[in-house]
Amino acid sequence: MGILKDKAKKYISPVLGKYFPDLEIVSGEGIYLYDTDGKKYIDFSCGIGVTNTGHCHPKVVKAITKQASQLIHICAGIAHYEPHVKLAERLVNLLPFKEASVVFSQSGSEAVEASLKLAKYVTKKKKLVAFTHSFHGRTLGALSVTYKEKYKKGYEGWLIDDIIRLDYPYYFHNNTMEYRDYVYKCIADFKKAILENNDIAAVIIEPILGEGGYVPAPIEFIQELRKFTEEQNILLIFDEVQSGFGRTGTMFAMEHYDVVPDIVALAKGIASGMPLGACVAKKELMDQWTTSAHGGTYIGNPVSCAASLATISALEEENLLENAYETGKLITSLLNEAKKNLPVIGDVRGVGLMIGIEFINPTTKEPNPEIVKNIKIKALEKGLVVISCGDTDQVLRLIPALIITKSQAKDAIDILISAIKESL
Ligand SMILES: Cc1ncc(COP(=O)(O)O)c(C=O)c1O
Repeated sequence: MGILKDKAKKYISPVLGKYFPDLEIVSGEGIYLYDTDGKKYIDFSCGIGVTNTGHCHPKVVKAITKQASQLIHICAGIAHYEPHVKLAERLVNLLPFKEASVVFSQSGSEAVEASLKLAKYVTKKKKLVAFTHSFHGRTLGALSVTYKEKYKKGYEGWLIDDIIRLDYPYYFHNNTMEYRDYVYKCIADFKKAILENNDIAAVIIEPILGEGGYVPAPIEFIQELRKFTEEQNILLIFDEVQSGFGRTGTMFAMEHYDVVPDIVALAKGIASGMPLGACVAKKELMDQWTTSAHGGTYIGNPVSCAASLATISALEEENLLENAYETGKLITSLLNEAKKNLPVIGDVRGVGLMIGIEFINPTTKEPNPEIVKNIKIKALEKGLVVISCGDTDQVLRLIPALIITKSQAKDAIDILISAIKESL
């Protein structure tokens, strides 16, 4: 260990943040990772919510290998090719739109970027509504709708400034009133803000907050948001980059809400680690996006699309959605049991295998990023890779591969609880 770290220091830009500055990984298989010393880890990070089918799932590896030996690149601007068209058809049939079409991208940021561009192009309106704690990516458009100031510092003047920022319904941080009253206050606030502004093109929201702290939005909130945006003729964009592809026990988080947006941005779990994203929108919108108003050399790369088709088949054929839901329930109940004797755990929340544990100082009830930092280090020593999120990194997020068994999940939670106890 150490050779890669030293070279990286010399040759890789310091702009890239790192959860574990000393960790050097050689390979992955299923729920496990192996470092340069041969040490084995249970991976509860999944490359930040990407390898939903586990590392190097055999069906995905086979599809990638086959496609790579047949056609690595052609460009959607030059010819039609099967994986591109087949995946678009598959996604449209998986999503609850009546009729939709797809434009692919290489990442989540670009899927968001395309969603925003589409909304602007079609509505010709200027303003966007986005929420506190949100994360939508790093390109200039996606960064504009992202919340965290740290990510935006230094780019002032180059970002879209017509953003109306509303409160995400994050009850744990606002629990001085009854839950129902709080949710209805948030609904009243967004209605008021929307009525007070004109020229709004779209509202963009993560139905389940990812980087901002793993907070599922209340059902009534998302349903009212849909109803009201429709009434006001404003587009609704769901950012499901982190919550999609079985992560929450359904193929997409929107299914928990029984709500259909106008546009959805997808990436991460879509192709088990091959770079791919997608902006999927109602056909009537996409049909207004004039040819060449958007594009890209690598859009819908054949190998990435083949990996995605194999990923979706694996999720379905191996009942991974059901497993995510059931194993998620088990993990949540184990954590809630542990919480009774660990007052540093302020909240355990999530759906399926998108679980957040928010840590607090038991005396002041303030966020506790210090203990989270220590737990991550202790867990790593014990062979568990787990990462944080939240505005101050006060939340541990548990995002194992959806192939995890109940007994593997129990082992991982045992490690985590002992890491928490040793960090007190
Ligand atoms: C909800 C959400 N949107 C967008 C992005 C950006 O995706 P990418 O890092 O692939 O550009 C992320 C990444 O974490 C995300 O969680």
